[in-house]
Amino acid sequence: MRDEPTQQIGKQIQTIKALAKQRNAIILAHNYQPPEIQDLADLCGDSLELSRKAAQTDAEVIVFCGVHFMAETASILSPHKKVLLPRLDAGCLMADMITAEALEHKIQSLPPMPVVTYVNSTADVKALSTVCCTSANVVQVVNSLSADEMLLTPDRNLAMYAASRTGKKIHIWEGYCPTHEWLTPADVADARAAHPEAVFVAHPECRPEILQLADVIASTSGMLRHVAQAREREFIIGTEQGLLYPLQKANPDKHFYPASKKMICKNMKKIGLDDVHRCLTNLSNEVKVPESIRLPALKAVEQMIALKI
Ligand code: 13P
Ligand code: SF4
Repeated sequence: MRDEPTQQIGKQIQTIKALAKQRNAIILAHNYQPPEIQDLADLCGDSLELSRKAAQTDAEVIVFCGVHFMAETASILSPHKKVLLPRLDAGCLMADMITAEALEHKIQSLPPMPVVTYVNSTADVKALSTVCCTSANVVQVVNSLSADEMLLTPDRNLAMYAASRTGKKIHIWEGYCPTHEWLTPADVADARAAHPEAVFVAHPECRPEILQLADVIASTSGMLRHVAQAREREFIIGTEQGLLYPLQKANPDKHFYPASKKMICKNMKKIGLDDVHRCLTNLSNEVKVPESIRLPALKAVEQMIALKI
């Protein structure tokens, strides 16, 4: 017999799914979301997959289980749909490390050059950018530009990673994701000592000295794809711990260990089933980007999506 809390969660998921159908809503969840939210979602993915899905869906309502910039990106791509973020206080500490005013100032201080902006940024920062990128396609986006010099914001680790992979001159912005920044070489050494057979996979938001230690560098969905086809059976996961759930679900015969127990993003853990239920019932918590910001931001996001990488 299934235990009661699991049965209750299953029932609540079915109720929310039925409500989503009535509302012609699609539920998207980032790979870091809590297990029950991933189980509820119509689609889980990394930032690139979720932005593509948000652009393609026929649903009238998009419930975005992620953080604020993700819902904004969906609104940028789908202005005629209602985009709901079940917890409006789910922000991103890295996205908050840059403002449009500060970026404008930086652009003025540099010679003319393209600005590549990680999707983990606010809509008004995207609006000042030439093109967006995600952790999955940053190298291809940088290589798609004819310029050999550019500014990449807001993640300094992603910028250094892109510079090392492309050989281009990349000006950095001093932003970072605290969840990934906290991972130290000593944590990796401890994890490797505890699991000597394991492959170490790291997210490009980690510091350069961590990426140097990695066997594989990938976005969250890139990690899921890599592990699925790998012959090895043990993996140390250098990203937010939420990813361990879909990894284990898709690969029950493989073993996953967090590179550090500190790698938890509190904002990614805010949304619960009750929040999704409430916002679908009331069609509340809408995120809508004003047209004056949306149109220039759309140009940068579309230039990335058009690359089909
Ligand atoms: P990806 O899922 O695109 O790898 O992004 C990681 C992340 O930090 C999202 O907030
Ligand atoms: Fe932002 Fe980092 Fe949390 Fe992703 S994991 S939402 S980049 S703070």
